[in-house]
Amino acid sequence: MAMVRLVACLALYTSLGHIPSSLAVILRTTDKIVWANEFEPIELTCLIESISTNNPRIEWKKIKNGVPSYVYFQNKIAGDLEHRAQLREPANILIFNTTRSDTAEYRCEVAAIDDQRDFDEILISLAVRVKPVVPRCSVPEAVTVGTSTELRCLENEGFPASQYRWFHNDEELPQDPKNSPKFVNSSYSINPDTGGLKFRRVRKEDAGEYYCQAKNDAGHAQCPPRMMEVYDVDIVGIFLKSFGAVAIFLGLAACICHSFRRGCFHKKGHNENNYSWPAQNDGDYRDADEGHFRHKSSFVI
Ligand SMILES: *[C@@H]1O[C@H](CO)[C@@H](O)[C@H](O)[C@H]1NC(C)=O
Ligand SMILES: *[C@@H]1O[C@H](CO)[C@@H](O)[C@H](O)[C@H]1NC(C)=O
Repeated sequence: MAMVRLVACLALYTSLGHIPSSLAVILRTTDKIVWANEFEPIELTCLIESISTNNPRIEWKKIKNGVPSYVYFQNKIAGDLEHRAQLREPANILIFNTTRSDTAEYRCEVAAIDDQRDFDEILISLAVRVKPVVPRCSVPEAVTVGTSTELRCLENEGFPASQYRWFHNDEELPQDPKNSPKFVNSSYSINPDTGGLKFRRVRKEDAGEYYCQAKNDAGHAQCPPRMMEVYDVDIVGIFLKSFGAVAIFLGLAACICHSFRRGCFHKKGHNENNYSWPAQNDGDYRDADEGHFRHKSSFVI
């Protein structure tokens, strides 16, 4: 019966000039592009649609950056997937626990020596999604009204690359402030790809707590909130000015003290008052100690 069919097929083959499917190995897959979440199992399907050979040779190769390596060879899982995968009927490969390094192309190759068309292969591309990690955020502590500033947010682990959202006092900042009655007067713009939150002109109302969230298909992560204060005037300038004043004052004080000490030095050994200085200091320390002691004992009681 089988012989009759074979002869019939051969006759068909010779008459029509093409290979009948019953004498060809033909592979098929359910998904040519496969997405998996990191640390979850995934099965790459290599279905055999037609074959006549009893024990076909099955091989899987992993192709990363154009370089092929075996992952199933001589009936064994090998290389990268060793101890991490198994072959399942008919020629599928099951990865128990994917990692980001499994992102690659995989080729299922089946050789069937008894078939007229004795070889077929199928290419599957696997992409492993990776959750974002906590992004690094930079929020200025203090800015002056009317100046421009940029808040930044970035993480590099997530795959596909993270998209970023910013929150102000726990409320999400809309992508475009013009579309929101609450933020319509704010001058910010958000770049969801780079994580930048730019203010052209900071307003008093922009002060508050900011945090950012990195998100992709695998998950999300956010940085802890940080306070941004907005000042009416340039506090840095004021600080520098007062720092200057303090420096001048210290300089003057040092001069006065220096001349005073020199005066004292001349009188040293003659003036009894001189020796009362350390005594007075001792008294001060004792008072401080007593205070400290009292405080401690009351704490113990
Ligand atoms: C998968 O692998 C990761 C890291 O190698 C490990 O932490 C995790 O527990 C594994 N998950 C399972 C289900 O085996
Ligand atoms: C925005 O500015 C306009 C004009 O200055 C003002 O009338 C309005 O109240 C402001 N809106 C908000 C939400 O601050």
